[in-house]
Amino acid sequence: MPFEWSGSSPDLLFAVNRDSGEPLRCQLERRIRDAIRSGRVRVGERLPSSRALASGLGLSRGLVQECYAQLQAEGYLVARIGSATRVAAGACAVSAPAPPPDRRPRLLADFRWAVPDLGGFPRSDWSWAMREAVRTLPRSALDYGDPRGSAVFREVLAGYVRRVRAASADPESIVICSGYAQGLNIALRALARAGVRAVAYEDPGSPETVTSAAARAGLSAIPVPVDEQGLDVAALAATEARAVVVTPAHQWPTGVVLAPERRLALIEWAVRRDAVVIEDDYDAEFRYDREPVGALQGLATDRVIAIGTVSKSLVPALRIGWLLCPPALARRMAEDKNLDDRGSPTLDQYALARMIESGRYDRHLRRMRAVYAARRTALVEALAEHAPSVRVTGLAAGFHAVAHLDGSIDEHTVITAARERAVGLYGMSPCRTGHAGTPVQLVLGFGDVGERAIRTGIAAVGDLLG
Ligand SMILES: Cc1ncc(COP(=O)(O)O)c(C=O)c1O
Repeated sequence: MPFEWSGSSPDLLFAVNRDSGEPLRCQLERRIRDAIRSGRVRVGERLPSSRALASGLGLSRGLVQECYAQLQAEGYLVARIGSATRVAAGACAVSAPAPPPDRRPRLLADFRWAVPDLGGFPRSDWSWAMREAVRTLPRSALDYGDPRGSAVFREVLAGYVRRVRAASADPESIVICSGYAQGLNIALRALARAGVRAVAYEDPGSPETVTSAAARAGLSAIPVPVDEQGLDVAALAATEARAVVVTPAHQWPTGVVLAPERRLALIEWAVRRDAVVIEDDYDAEFRYDREPVGALQGLATDRVIAIGTVSKSLVPALRIGWLLCPPALARRMAEDKNLDDRGSPTLDQYALARMIESGRYDRHLRRMRAVYAARRTALVEALAEHAPSVRVTGLAAGFHAVAHLDGSIDEHTVITAARERAVGLYGMSPCRTGHAGTPVQLVLGFGDVGERAIRTGIAAVGDLLG
């Protein structure tokens, strides 16, 4: 689509050289022709008004009008009475590129993990909150601000995570960031500067995210196994790591909850080793059939960096997250955020603060909890009907499940065969660091798949699964 300007004239950068000896009108005509031929201005785009272009270049308006008239006669431009001069459809011009084709094949169901219900984004609530933010934001808040984020938002957020996650949040020790990914980078860099040399992470987990962030911070990364009770803390203690990245409330991707004894053992390890736990609290808002699990951070504020995000509770596109920092590291982490990008967008923070304060955020979470619970039921029922031998685990929270296959067929073959039937399935292997002798498991995301698609998709691939 060509750019559209509402009302006022678009700017267009041209220069004329008064010393060249070439008449100014010829120069301007040539420049406009070149701009059209090279695609700098595209078919359908408006040119500046003759008055604006003349004033910008210090030329007479009559000269620009003559130049436009000449280019109309040559077929480069069109102008209707009362409307702007535009690049003509038939001009020898590069048309605006068509949007790239969506190469993703249409699937009956795509069990992509880590994606919330994108259609469930509360657009009208967010529009309301953004309008409120723009309307009420004080003038001073439009300046560069505190790199930790808006004080207003940090205050509201601290109240929220205390209430909902039983976290121990002091607004002074919160750093707003652009999601978990940036939060992890900031945390690891701060730890590296504090003398940490190695960080452990869960296996299975998010090996690529952690190892690449660790490498950027100059740390080595050590995988530690996860079993039915969560991270194996004894195995962690046997490593040289002085930091660990964990998902205690709902382990990614197995879905197990870190057992109470392990939670305590992990904190004890951190105290004994003078270490720090990085808690990825990514989807704890969505829990179904078990007692709520509070954030680990609430148990040991000075030993845990908790990272929260709205990528699951709202949508990834917002790029809003937060770090609850141990007081001793808070200043370093704020400095790092400052060096990264001088702080996250203030308007978005105000909008989220208004969403939370007004109760709209909680209402959205309640609504989505019901949506995901229904999808989870649909998945369990469809698997029971079409693949009864498949065991499903990890369903206590969030919007993904682990399907355990019987091992007679390998992960790649199942995924490829499912694709041929227009169903997107995804294996556990990218989440693993050690691959040898591992059982065949699929991670089935149901966040962005409707109930009907879940049932149709599983029916289409049931025989492949077992
Ligand atoms: C384990 C885990 N934690 C957190 C996130 C959220 O990351 P971000 O906040 O950068 O979108 C994801 C996203 O996929 C994830 O898989």
